[in-house]
Amino acid sequence: IPPAAKKIKWCFFFSLFLLQVLSSSFAEQTPCLNGFDSEVFTFKVDRPYLHRGRKLGRVLFNDCAGRGYNIYSSTDQHFQVDIDGTVELKTQLTLHKVQEFSVHAWDSEGMRYTASVRVENVDKTNHHYAQLEETKNRSINVPLLKLSRTKRSWVIPPLNVPENQRGPFPKEIAVLKTDYVKETKMIYSIRGEGADQPPMGLFTINKNNGSLYVTKPLDREIKDKYVLMAHAVAADGEVTEKPMEIIITVIDANDNKPVFTQNPFLGSVPEASPQEFEFMIVNATDADEPETDNADVRYTIISQDPPQPNPNMFIINSITGGIRVNSDGLDRENYPEYTLLIQAADMMGNGLVTTGTAVITVTDSNDHAPQFEKTTYTASVPENKVGAVVVKLPVTDGDEPQSPAWMAKFKISGVNNGGFFSISTGPNKQEGIITAPLDFEQNNKYTLLVITENEVPFAKPLPTSTATVIVNVQDVNEAPVFDPVEQIISKPEDLEVGTELTVYTATDPDTARAQTVTYRISSEDRAGWVSVDRDTGLIRVKSSMDRESPFVKDDKYKVLILAVDNVPATGTGTLVIELEDVNDNAPVVEEREIKVCNKDSVPVSLSATDKDGPRFLSSKWTNFSSKQNQVLFPMFPAIFKKDVFQTD
Ligand SMILES: *[C@@H]1O[C@H](CO)[C@@H](O)[C@H](O)[C@H]1NC(C)=O
Ligand SMILES: *[C@@H]1O[C@H](CO)[C@@H](O)[C@H](O)[C@H]1NC(C)=O
Ligand SMILES: *[C@@H]1O[C@H](CO)[C@@H](O)[C@H](O)[C@H]1NC(C)=O
Ligand SMILES: *[C@@H]1O[C@H](CO)[C@@H](O)[C@H](O)[C@H]1NC(C)=O
Repeated sequence: IPPAAKKIKWCFFFSLFLLQVLSSSFAEQTPCLNGFDSEVFTFKVDRPYLHRGRKLGRVLFNDCAGRGYNIYSSTDQHFQVDIDGTVELKTQLTLHKVQEFSVHAWDSEGMRYTASVRVENVDKTNHHYAQLEETKNRSINVPLLKLSRTKRSWVIPPLNVPENQRGPFPKEIAVLKTDYVKETKMIYSIRGEGADQPPMGLFTINKNNGSLYVTKPLDREIKDKYVLMAHAVAADGEVTEKPMEIIITVIDANDNKPVFTQNPFLGSVPEASPQEFEFMIVNATDADEPETDNADVRYTIISQDPPQPNPNMFIINSITGGIRVNSDGLDRENYPEYTLLIQAADMMGNGLVTTGTAVITVTDSNDHAPQFEKTTYTASVPENKVGAVVVKLPVTDGDEPQSPAWMAKFKISGVNNGGFFSISTGPNKQEGIITAPLDFEQNNKYTLLVITENEVPFAKPLPTSTATVIVNVQDVNEAPVFDPVEQIISKPEDLEVGTELTVYTATDPDTARAQTVTYRISSEDRAGWVSVDRDTGLIRVKSSMDRESPFVKDDKYKVLILAVDNVPATGTGTLVIELEDVNDNAPVVEEREIKVCNKDSVPVSLSATDKDGPRFLSSKWTNFSSKQNQVLFPMFPAIFKKDVFQTD
């Protein structure tokens, strides 16, 4: 059934009342629009008790995709809607007057549509409805609400009055009538908000003939419903009609344009974001009636500044306001910020329009690899400059300075010639510094491949920059090196002059040069005890050594030996001779003179010292008595002989 036809069918029931609806709220049809066939579906039942499973009727939804079925959802849990649109009772229900609820349906693109369903009990035996009565000679343009004498409660449909109506005012919206008028003159009055309560005088009634008026344009956004009580009293006070409740519903008009919830909207998007990446949402509200076209806002992007690298870098979800990346080419380095002029329009994009801006900051992604300034570097370094800087490799990086996407790090690729070289990042984070190894002798030229990357991974695949570094080693003469640097030997102190002590040699690290090494004794042979063979490094005793010499410390005598190459460069080695003790010193009685009396002599205590080591210190005293020796108190040196002292 075409929508218009459905409407007419509905009209027969509430004929007068509906004329108003028809004239105010129907948009023109355009070819195949998805949506419900009607905004309101009315189903009539003739009894208040409705059993479960009772079918009330069908809502019709038009999906241009022609699916033939739809998913519906009901906002009232008593009712369910089958996929063919049949509305049925899910639970049993007692329907007092009218039950209204909404049904949602989604089209094949996922858009939601809503229609109202009214279920009305038209059981005349229980409830009385205002009768809509035509008068013969009066044009039918307002509802006629007929009051009746029945004692039962009244159920009358709401009066729908569009907001923002044009004048002239007062404008008649309905006529009340009571059967008593046939018998007597009735006086009509109304009470309630909008009548005798604020906003007072919005609605008035002609007390003589029951014409109900609205005196000013209504605004749904201020108040969307008025409840009035209508009274009819006989002029002579004889009869009083039961008061009747009149509900006036203000019908929405699209009189509010959408309003952005903020302006500008601020968003940011990483430059390496993929297409379809949604990074911000804009939002507009519309004060008109929710869930209607009047408040159904759609978003569009009107313009983009700058329009580079293309004018459609972004796309907006017209329904949600979500802004997504639409194109490759975001580039913080060239276009760090975009300003979008955005529009929100109600009536699904065809109604009232508002504009705003969205400011989008493009944030850095690591989309630039650090680049060496040259692909090949040549450096020369003197050998043995330990830790010396060989070469600095500057790089450039297009990403945001001082960010991890900009800071470079370096490594030496593959064979690093035995790991001799090390590379580090310079303090400015934009250069690699290669430092020298410990020893160059093995090679005089090195080729290194250096790779640079950032401190954080690349946001997308990028070619990595490499540099070849050729290091030429400048040979420097090195002094011969003794092995070991200090040699310790143990020898008796009384070796014969000319005895061989040891062979102590040095080698020249300058293997490339074929040098000869000669040996000398340095002045650090303070006692002059040793000699060295110039060519072989053979060390001999040159003069008698003495452990007890003042040049000996802790039994050790140190000699500095020199090894000299052709250049000449001199290396030194230390020969330490540990002198083994020999009993080559007689003990000496310290008391040079003692007195002993002939008579009544008392024992005299003597002390002796010995320069030799502890091994040769313990001595025994030999008893010389005057009887055994003819000489009574000779000088002691004369009477002590070496052999009178023996070791223990
Ligand atoms: C209908 O019109 C006639 C003459 O025009 C008038 O006498 C009569 O009162 C009208 N009826 C009503 C109900 O207004
Ligand atoms: C009631 O009276 C007013 C003013 O005289 C008139 O405009 C209006 O049409 C009348 N209403 C009816 C229902 O006769
Ligand atoms: C839009 O703004 C309104 C009002 O502030 C809020 O209720 C609604 O949730 C917002 N919508 C979105 C998608 O943020
Ligand atoms: C030394 O001679 C005296 C007197 O003859 C004697 O008493 C003493 O024991 C002797 N001492 C030693 C160590 O022989």
